Amino acid sequence: MLLHDALVSLLFFLAVSFTSADPTFNDDVLGLIVFKSGLDDPLSKLASWNSEDYDPCSWAGCVCDPATNQVTELRLDGFSLSGHIGRGLLRLRSLHTLVLSNNNFTGALNPELTHLGTLQLLDFSGNNLSGRIPDGFFEQCGSLTSVSLARNRLTGPLPVSLSYCSTLTHLNLSSNQLSGRLPRELWLLKSLNSLDLSDNFLQGDLPDGIGGLYDLRRINLSRNWLSGELPSDVGACSSLRWLDLSENYFSGSLPVSMKVLGGSCSFLRVRGNSLVGEIPEWIGELAALETLDLSANNFSGNAPSSLGNLVFLKELNLSTNFLSGEIPQSISNCSSLVSIDVSKNAFTGDVLKWMLFSQSSSRFDLQKRSGNDSFLSNVGFLQGLRILDLSSNRFSGEIPSNIGILTSLVHLNISTNSLFGSVPSGIGGLKLAEILDLSSNLLNGTLPSEIGGAVSLKQLNLQRNQLTGQIPALLSNCSALNTIDLSENKLSGEIPGSIGSLSNLQYIDLSRNNLSGSLPKQVEKLTHLVTFNISHNSITGELPAGGFFNTIPLSAVTGNPSLCGSVVNRSCLSVHPKPIVLNPNSSNPATGPPLGGQIRKSVLSISALIAIGAAAFIAIGVVAVTLLNVHAKSSVSRHDAAAALAMSVGETFSCSPSKDQEFGKLVMFSGEADVFDTSGANALLNKDCELGRGGFGVVYKTSLQDGRPVAVKKLTVSGLIKSQEEFEREMRKLGKLRHRNVVEIKGYYWTQSLQLLIHEFVSGGSLYRHLHGDECVCLTWRERFNIILGIARGLAYLHGSNITHYNLKATNVLIDADTGEAKVSDFGLARLLASALDRCVLSGKVQSALGYTAPEFACRTVKITEKCDVYGFGILVLEVVTGKRPVEYAEDDVMVLCETVREGLEDGRVEECVDGRLRGNFPAEEAIPVIKLGLVCGSQVPSNRPEMEEVVKILELIQCPSQEFE
Ligand SMILES: *[C@@H]1O[C@H](CO)[C@@H](O)[C@H](O)[C@H]1NC(C)=O
Ligand SMILES: *[C@@H]1O[C@H](CO)[C@@H](O)[C@H](O)[C@H]1NC(C)=O
Ligand SMILES: *[C@@H]1O[C@H](CO)[C@@H](O)[C@H](O)[C@H]1NC(C)=O
Ligand SMILES: *[C@@H]1O[C@H](CO)[C@@H](O)[C@H](O)[C@H]1NC(C)=O
Repeated sequence: MLLHDALVSLLFFLAVSFTSADPTFNDDVLGLIVFKSGLDDPLSKLASWNSEDYDPCSWAGCVCDPATNQVTELRLDGFSLSGHIGRGLLRLRSLHTLVLSNNNFTGALNPELTHLGTLQLLDFSGNNLSGRIPDGFFEQCGSLTSVSLARNRLTGPLPVSLSYCSTLTHLNLSSNQLSGRLPRELWLLKSLNSLDLSDNFLQGDLPDGIGGLYDLRRINLSRNWLSGELPSDVGACSSLRWLDLSENYFSGSLPVSMKVLGGSCSFLRVRGNSLVGEIPEWIGELAALETLDLSANNFSGNAPSSLGNLVFLKELNLSTNFLSGEIPQSISNCSSLVSIDVSKNAFTGDVLKWMLFSQSSSRFDLQKRSGNDSFLSNVGFLQGLRILDLSSNRFSGEIPSNIGILTSLVHLNISTNSLFGSVPSGIGGLKLAEILDLSSNLLNGTLPSEIGGAVSLKQLNLQRNQLTGQIPALLSNCSALNTIDLSENKLSGEIPGSIGSLSNLQYIDLSRNNLSGSLPKQVEKLTHLVTFNISHNSITGELPAGGFFNTIPLSAVTGNPSLCGSVVNRSCLSVHPKPIVLNPNSSNPATGPPLGGQIRKSVLSISALIAIGAAAFIAIGVVAVTLLNVHAKSSVSRHDAAAALAMSVGETFSCSPSKDQEFGKLVMFSGEADVFDTSGANALLNKDCELGRGGFGVVYKTSLQDGRPVAVKKLTVSGLIKSQEEFEREMRKLGKLRHRNVVEIKGYYWTQSLQLLIHEFVSGGSLYRHLHGDECVCLTWRERFNIILGIARGLAYLHGSNITHYNLKATNVLIDADTGEAKVSDFGLARLLASALDRCVLSGKVQSALGYTAPEFACRTVKITEKCDVYGFGILVLEVVTGKRPVEYAEDDVMVLCETVREGLEDGRVEECVDGRLRGNFPAEEAIPVIKLGLVCGSQVPSNRPEMEEVVKILELIQCPSQEFE
């Protein structure tokens, strides 16, 4: 550094001491090379500055006088240079323009610089100059007309020597750290055209005398600490166009002399002072005003109607004062208005109404009265309005339906008033609106879906109103939205999933409404979320996982009693994500929700909720063992009694079928007895016609005389049924059952030793064959779901008819080959046998496949109810979803399906449980709740299992509306 300084000094010494007697040697080259040698030029902007050149006229930033080849202008704006402004520049004897703005020059100002007698324009703005402005700086300023030292770090007071620069027309010292009082001498700069001292620490009163500056056009003293009254003689600045005294501590009222500025002044800003009094009527005489900003003062009283004279006014800001009364209607004459801000006052009246309606009516009246059509020129009023802020006043009235005519509006804030009525659909016409704030009013009714027309919306504030109805899904059309606040209304219904497409969304507050349903999964896609508040609603189900939702604060979700997830510290294990709003009116579960009419909604029964909630926590280990025991025990006794009987009965039949038939009684419920093909009985001997074997017998296929196929079941336990009367009564009851998910009993045949059951032939075979059979054509998810739903409906129907199945399993569910519909079969017989058989024998008999038996079968003291069917159904559900048998034997292990799935669920691997043959081709949002439902139904405690009626409703809710996984 020392070496560098020494070199510079040497060069400078050379520069000043060598005379210019040598004609080939250009002083300016030397001066600029010296200047450059003191600089850091990281971008090599000065690479063209070559000391070998005869003159600098081709150098970057240099302009020469062609006659003398001497530099007259040096413009190095934004060259990224840093270092001190060196004395080399003092060699430039013809320099009149020196622009070093927007670099990184540091150090203090060199007072000698202004002593270059030729200099007219000096611009050092946007550097890093520090220290005081030296007294000498302005002392010999010769012909200097324009000085800008703006945006540096200069400190200290304005030098009094400033007054010597009588030629100065532009002085810009803004954005420094200048302090002290303004010297009275400032007003001696009679040629001043523009004065900018804004953004400093200047303080004290404005000295008198400004009125002598007749050429002053532009004065900016904003953002200082100036105080006292506004200068009373400012009106004498007859050329003044631009007056900015904002953000100081000025007090008193607007000086009346200002009104003389009428012809010229277009910009008047006094915001952020402590000015008092009324806005004077004479303000209307400042007819050239384009900007009038009186905001953030203590002005009071009414807004004068003379404001209407300001026909060039583009920006009117009266915000944050104590103004009251109505906005004068004359303001509609200000047809150039682009921005109106009267927020934070005490204005009253129905301002929006006259703004949007008065135009046509007043024009009409006027034309009618006088034929004067001067108002016609005002047709464009408000059409160009981009900003309208009426917030925090006492405005009342309704939002006019034609608000959409404000097609240029970008920012509309009418919050915190007393506006009532509904949000008009015309709001959708505000195509350019980016900010719409209607919050804190008395608005009611629904939010119209036309809001989707406001396609530029970034921010929508409707909080603290009385809005009802649903959040319109079309809000998703406003794709730029980043803020939605609808909190503290009475909105209901579900949160539309479509908001998931608003990818810019950062802040969403829906708290304190009556929203219900589960959170749409789509919100997981909102990657920019900062706030997502749904607290104090009736949102149910599971909080989404991942991303923002892992860290969502409790306060944002609290107050939703049925919401679950780790954040609310409530387990979700068994709560499916669909709404638990049921329709009790749909008495027939097969018909789905009724169309139209009144739909009453209710919530799932408490017992079902408890069942759902409790089920997941019940361990099953014990039960698996119990089941194995039961099986072992029962298989012994079975051989003793029932099985032996059954076999002998079979033999009897095969020996003398025709004899039995002669003495037997055949009943067909449809009155078709005569058409029953007696040769059909022969089918019973034919192994090829055997359809399957169940706990109660063997089923054969045969046909009626007209060729229609039927299934005939030969009861293998028939020897146990002693009473013909009882049998027939039971059969008649079963014969009345009609449901598309229940196999229809068409008739029966009775002899003392043989009973046949004639029922509908179902073409597709058993569910067992579909799931585990060799020729298994893999069922799709949708087919499986429909099968589960069909079984549930069938069972619910049976239970509704007071029939318990007792024997539900995959082989007893038949599938219609044409419709894929599941049909429950083999029901109702257990009752006939129940009295005859020991329970353990029965359980072994009927639940012949291990795994479907409800645990209460093992316990003699527990009453067996239809809840045992719910258990079997639960196991069946798991079987259908996983494609695995209820119990599978591995090499040296027994896999109990229910247990495996429950473990999977607890480990969060529940999706892995789904049948691998589906290859992931299933909607998890259906599969998971279905599995959970299966586990709930398979609960160990009977009372924890839901009713089948509820199961059907839950399944209907789980079903995705878009059945995309066909
Ligand atoms: C100015 O210089 C300082 C250090 O000398 C450097 O950190 C800064 O980035 C420079 N600023 C500009 C605008 O070049
Ligand atoms: C101004 O200079 C100071 C050191 O004098 C340095 O710390 C600061 O970064 C500079 N500011 C800019 C904007 O370059
Ligand atoms: C003063 O300089 C600043 C910064 O360069 C500029 O923004 C401002 O417009 C200038 N003031 C006047 C009155 O020209
Ligand atoms: C909205 O409020 C107004 C009065 O404030 C009332 O007349 C009207 O019926 C309400 N509308 C609705 C939909 O509640």
